[in-house]
Amino acid sequence: MHNKNASLTRVERSLAPDELIVTKTDASGKIRYANRTFYKFAGYTPAECIGAQHNIIRHPEMPRTVFKLLWDTIKGGDEIFAYVNNRAKNGDHYWVLAHVTPNWGANKSIIGYHSNRRAPNSDVIREHIQPLYTQLLKIERSAGSPKDALAAGEKHVLDLLRSKDMSFNELMFALGV
Ligand SMILES: Cc1cc2nc3c(=O)[nH]c(=O)nc-3n(C[C@H](O)[C@H](O)[C@H](O)COP(=O)(O)O)c2cc1C
Repeated sequence: MHNKNASLTRVERSLAPDELIVTKTDASGKIRYANRTFYKFAGYTPAECIGAQHNIIRHPEMPRTVFKLLWDTIKGGDEIFAYVNNRAKNGDHYWVLAHVTPNWGANKSIIGYHSNRRAPNSDVIREHIQPLYTQLLKIERSAGSPKDALAAGEKHVLDLLRSKDMSFNELMFALGV
């Protein structure tokens, strides 16, 4: 179902300030629950989504580095705030500010993940996030292999955070979430 080559309409859709997109996944990232707002924006039916990997709505212009950071963080038991551009089934896109957290089982193991997304600050996206993601895509695309691409992208983010003496979440908050 994940079709990287589906055409993009370049039409942007926006969440209302009071809209929240919620999904829950199992530990491997397969969608187990989605709320109505998710279906409204993604344009998929529950039958198409439940059991599918979350990359069903992956936008081709999202840097892989961001998802590596997301997965490293939540697998490590921490939460992350991240700006994500998603692609709807028809090729429209919608930016969200995602808050992704692990879902703990009784024996202190991670049994899945939870993501809550709300309308992002569009000034922050235009002024900070898009330039950063464009830079990351450039770095990733100029690397020799997928592995090098992730390493180079990650280095860029870590250097940025080090220069600001901030964690990724602190940077997101400093930009204005
Ligand atoms: C709870 C949760 C929510 C996620 N939400 C999204 C999302 O909204 N959009 C997205 O592209 N990836 C999301 N991901 C990340 C995907 O699992 C995947 O890493 C990403 O789409 C990159 O896919 P790829 O590895 O096939 O390139 C989420 C993962 C988890 C665990």
